[in-house]
Amino acid sequence: MSHILVVGSVNLDFSASVSRLPAAGETVTGATLERFPGGKGANQALAARRLGADVTLIASVGDDATAGEALALLREGQVDLAHCVVHPAAPTGVALISVAPSGENHIVVAPGANAALTVDELPDADALICQLEVPGDTVADIAGRFEGFFCANLAPATEIDVAVLTRADLIVVNETEAAWYGDSLRACGGLIATTHGAAGAELRKDGELLATARPPAVDAIDSTGAGDTFTAALTVALVEGMSPRGALEFACAAGAKATTIRGAQPSLPTRKDVEALL
Ligand code: RIB
Repeated sequence: MSHILVVGSVNLDFSASVSRLPAAGETVTGATLERFPGGKGANQALAARRLGADVTLIASVGDDATAGEALALLREGQVDLAHCVVHPAAPTGVALISVAPSGENHIVVAPGANAALTVDELPDADALICQLEVPGDTVADIAGRFEGFFCANLAPATEIDVAVLTRADLIVVNETEAAWYGDSLRACGGLIATTHGAAGAELRKDGELLATARPPAVDAIDSTGAGDTFTAALTVALVEGMSPRGALEFACAAGAKATTIRGAQPSLPTRKDVEALL
């Protein structure tokens, strides 16, 4: 069994199902509100765990009741939380999410304690996954210190030290993020996976197309956490030694499955779920 280390965010998601996403300045009423554990780091940690890896999460939460709710499914899923820290002053991160009937969403994050995450002790693992809801300096620092397979999910799009790009064995971006980073992604000498929602994903190295894959058809109702599932699944599959094409198909199926259930962490598929869909 592979051991995956995830360094990233923990949020509590306030998710409103709406008849349509509001335009700027518009109010849309009639929504139904639910609360789910979320945060890109936490979602990726639990996704990797449900896909069969041993997982350690390094994260920062507030000294508040929100933290207990946000960490509940990670605890239940036996993700190792021994390296998570409690910030004495900042609150646990929160995400405000609107979800349309098509499954599309808008997300606004108030990072709270996530913005203060630093990492002293870095446990050994087969792979490290980071995203950008925690400080870029922290990601650059641990990328330089970690010796195994390093996956950088460059979400949300933000300025990042070029050393992260050159160190990464795998970069994961969606098409919006890929456009935002543009030519700067050429600094990456490893694999670059670009996702295109229901249209699938592609895997490139040094600009050369290695593989494309399309997800199986599913009834998507909420895309929250689908990108996180894809990132975790692709990393788990590559670390297990799957071929680039096999790993991409596995990750696309996992991401698709995550769109069929409401909420980020409740929707993360097990290995069995993904294999059944493939
Ligand atoms: O990627 C989905 C996640 O983004 C949500 O769970 C939300 O917390 C935001 O971090």
